[in-house]
Amino acid sequence: MDAFHYRGNSLLVEDVALATIAERFGTPTYVYSRHAIVDAFAEFRRAASGRNVLVCYALKANSNLAVIDLLAREGAGFDIVSGGELARVLAAGGDPSRVVFSGVGKSAAEMRVALEAGVRCFNVESESELLRLDGVAGAIGRRAPVSLRVNPDVDAGTHPYISTGLRENKFGIAHDAALAAYRTAARLPNVDVQGIDCHIGSQITAIDPFLAALDKLLELVDALHAEGIALKHLDLGGGLGIRYADEQPPSREALFAAIFERIDRHPRGASYELVFEFGRSIVGNAGVLLTRVEYLKRNAERGFAIVDAAMNDLMRPALYDAYHGVLPVQPRDERSAQSWDVVGPVCESGDWLARGRRLALAEGDLLAIASAGAYGMAMASNYNTRPRAAEVIVDGGDVHLVREREPVESLFALERRLPR
Ligand code: LLP
Repeated sequence: MDAFHYRGNSLLVEDVALATIAERFGTPTYVYSRHAIVDAFAEFRRAASGRNVLVCYALKANSNLAVIDLLAREGAGFDIVSGGELARVLAAGGDPSRVVFSGVGKSAAEMRVALEAGVRCFNVESESELLRLDGVAGAIGRRAPVSLRVNPDVDAGTHPYISTGLRENKFGIAHDAALAAYRTAARLPNVDVQGIDCHIGSQITAIDPFLAALDKLLELVDALHAEGIALKHLDLGGGLGIRYADEQPPSREALFAAIFERIDRHPRGASYELVFEFGRSIVGNAGVLLTRVEYLKRNAERGFAIVDAAMNDLMRPALYDAYHGVLPVQPRDERSAQSWDVVGPVCESGDWLARGRRLALAEGDLLAIASAGAYGMAMASNYNTRPRAAEVIVDGGDVHLVREREPVESLFALERRLPR
């Protein structure tokens, strides 16, 4: 959260006071730092320098066109999971030949569009998907570049909802079924086997699970090599964690160094291109959700700060019991601090953003919900017919509105009343 800092009694993002942004654009508003996004990506790029590495940005974390555009200019590839995300990459001027298409349920229509756009690789998650892709590619006279997503059965040690590399998860092809799937792939006329892929989970705060997954992939790579199936790339997915509270995730550099060390020990390791699909670690700490306290109220049990952002804006606390820091935009004297639950206006007890935080608050105060750049706006909904928040990107002293607050009429513009 380096881009967010206090100067005097005011919380700034880069050189702009968050209070000014609230005045200009209202609340709730997502506020991102251009430099924080670019720096996070640049750190991956530096850590990979001299290596054959493609760092893809996993769009699902934050798919605003301005974010995609920024990262495209920095040389990022993109990891997409839907035709919609492909449309965003294209609309933002991203290069389809740097796009990997992940996801467990690609439709034939999505495959067709992605083939026509010329994506770099399909990360295929089942034999059925392989057969479908072969058919779709054949019908339009193309060959589909594929890698198979293998489930390495590695515990990423993360929240069960965002852990994806265990045997019991729906993702990927079981490790012991992978060879057979590759043999099928190698036989199909319209499929071109290029790589192998895994993604074991998200918000991973240790290096070991990545290395364990890599070892499992390398075992398969060797077995495939012995059968004459040669791969060009290894895709290790995303999942590097960030600091929300007191987590100590490895640095991007340390993670890459450990992976390269392991790769270099492998006899053919250096010949493979490495692909990554990072989302959270690029944008997570580059954004806050700016919100205003509407009401303060206390009952016998707890104090509630009712703010104008809610679970529809930031779902992570309600869904994963996730912790987000709460920063007062213009801090008050600590001596009046009390314990507050920061909650939204939505009609559900699950509608909370933070619980039991010691804050000195008054009605009308502005708060920044920290580390909200990833899986914040991207998961927002219109529950309770609440227009989604505005989004702005700060660049030094400049503020750019990159998504307008939704007008309420747009929420039901596609609906029709019944005929009389
Ligand atoms: N690649 C694949 C195939 C994925 O499924 C994901 C995330 C990523 C890459 C990017 O992972 P990252 O680097 O962002 O950890 N909504 C949850 C996170 C869900 C992650 C889903 N897959 C949250 O708010 O914590």
